Amino acid sequence: MRQVTTLGQFIIEKQADFPYAKGELSRLLRDIGIASKIVNREVNKAGLADILGEAGSINVQGESVKKLDVFANEQFIAALSLGGECCAIASEENEDIIIVDNKQSRNAKYVVAMDPLDGSSNIDVNVSVGTIFSIYRRTSLTGPGTLEDFLQHGTEQVAAGYVIYGSSCMMVYTTGKGVNGFTLDPSIGEFCLSHPNMQTPKTAKTYSINEGNYVHFPDGVKKYIKYCQEEDAATSRPYSSRYIGSGVADIHRNLITGGIYMYPTTAKSPKGKLRLLYECNPLAFITEQAGGKATDGFRRIMELEISELHQRTPLFLGSADMVDMAGDYMKKYSGVDAAIK
Ligand code: AHG
Ligand code: MN
Ligand code: MN
Repeated sequence: MRQVTTLGQFIIEKQADFPYAKGELSRLLRDIGIASKIVNREVNKAGLADILGEAGSINVQGESVKKLDVFANEQFIAALSLGGECCAIASEENEDIIIVDNKQSRNAKYVVAMDPLDGSSNIDVNVSVGTIFSIYRRTSLTGPGTLEDFLQHGTEQVAAGYVIYGSSCMMVYTTGKGVNGFTLDPSIGEFCLSHPNMQTPKTAKTYSINEGNYVHFPDGVKKYIKYCQEEDAATSRPYSSRYIGSGVADIHRNLITGGIYMYPTTAKSPKGKLRLLYECNPLAFITEQAGGKATDGFRRIMELEISELHQRTPLFLGSADMVDMAGDYMKKYSGVDAAIK
């Protein structure tokens, strides 16, 4: 019989590598796993919203129907609050941090930042969406979590991951010792290890960017896109363009098959669109752990200074050689002055 390793078993096995670990981080990951299974269940019946009732209305069971991003936010906050291992949460959906001020959580070691539903514009059209999370050890020693606990460099992340609600539901995470992927087996309700020690190809033939914004891109990005589109047999160009518009889905595909994901500055988003704390840093941590790179075009994402919870940054992430080359084009054609201060 084939042996499967569940997420829970894997976490316990890995915990044995850290003799002083008390299991708090393992429990935190378990809590995130529980919330993502509940969100996955809702995502799977999102198409029934018209039958069961639209967001803001009352469904046939008499419950009010929530928009999926609000629902996901509530589920993750509830799981993390009840779990007792995190003293504060930062979410894309909340202006300020959420202090988890119950008896077990008040002095908990960790804070969690998250994008509870990434790719929300894709919910109504049956396209994959995701959740992104990032875990830090608090810098304040005890008492309620503080804003400063979140304002740490990405290099300080203790763990990070994403869940993709796709043709199957997967959780991919890292604690800084490689990246592992788990696929939800709906028949047993468990995430099972399906992608051990994930490695992203060093170079590849896919670029992912919202090219509709082309006129507003910095010159470095425009020239790099043109490079990707040129014909050259030796480097297998032209490359393929793949862009779903769900960051987790685009980055998950590129992680597996190789490629570069770019969200540079645009006229509408002069500092970039994606958020450093709960989108770029966790995705950068995973990508680096899988052998890839992540920059803002000039600097490593995980070393960027962070001063605001919802701070944005441009993002170039994926196969190492491609991110390096995009960076070379940025330096050559956009210059360091284009770097976000
Ligand atoms: P969110 O749904 O959390 O707001 O994030 C959407 C992000 C990201 O997932 C995606 O890659 C990007 O925004 C798409 O933006 P455009 O529609 O501007 O291309
Ligand atoms: Mn997002
Ligand atoms: Mn979101």
